[in-house]
Amino acid sequence: MDVRTSDIRIHYDVRGEGPPVLLVHGYPLSGRLWDGVAARLEDDYRLIIPDLRGHGASEAAASASMEEQARDLMAVLDAAGVDGPVVLVGMSMGGYVALAFCRLFPERVRALALVNSRAAADPADAAEGRRSTADRVLEGGAKEVAAVAESMVEKLFADSTSSVQREEWRVRMAATEPMGMAAALRGMADRPDCTALLREMTQPVLVVGGEEDAITPADGAREMAEDAGATLEIISGAGHITPVEKPDEVAEALRSFMEGLE
Ligand code: MLT
Repeated sequence: MDVRTSDIRIHYDVRGEGPPVLLVHGYPLSGRLWDGVAARLEDDYRLIIPDLRGHGASEAAASASMEEQARDLMAVLDAAGVDGPVVLVGMSMGGYVALAFCRLFPERVRALALVNSRAAADPADAAEGRRSTADRVLEGGAKEVAAVAESMVEKLFADSTSSVQREEWRVRMAATEPMGMAAALRGMADRPDCTALLREMTQPVLVVGGEEDAITPADGAREMAEDAGATLEIISGAGHITPVEKPDEVAEALRSFMEGLE
């Protein structure tokens, strides 16, 4: 299904019936990230699974701040007919967008799960690195996007993850539109620190990490969970793309967190 936001078309899927759960993917991935997890939860929950702007089957825009993307999520919820609070699950950049959503629309959040993500902003050198990658991608087009996809594959997976999954995601990432990739990079570079926001949230929070995550390391997840008073689940044998690598474990962590809310 598609919804038009202010200026672009956002694609989303809805699966299952039950309390609403919004599953938000990371960069430069797509809603397909949640396929395995969704298959394990759809009998008991209504899963709303968007492709963020510039990713998957959604249109790209020149700008993709975390706040703009959070507003896209609200448009998706409206289009899906969800008018109450949801369990909001954000993986990596999806977690940054989820935190922006919590800042803008706190009344629409029943609980928050951050998966392979962080609340802190980028250090200055990391933000600069993202901005120069964005410039390269805009100049070099598809060839540069393919180079980014290649380097992401090296960082996304645990050592034990199959080459079939690596290749599947390399191809998907390489199909990202240059404008969308650059906008997401700039949006992440400019995002505000959300440590205090997370600490002060009154809703329950779950932090899920991968023991071998090279992008958002497990120690950072442990510290963030402790600082925020959140429930913590570190999944062994998983890298950064835990919902793909370990769908059983991620679905189980989400299920037991959500059952505790009832
Ligand atoms: C993601 O998976 O969304 C990105 O790796 C996040 C990041 O680079 O900070």
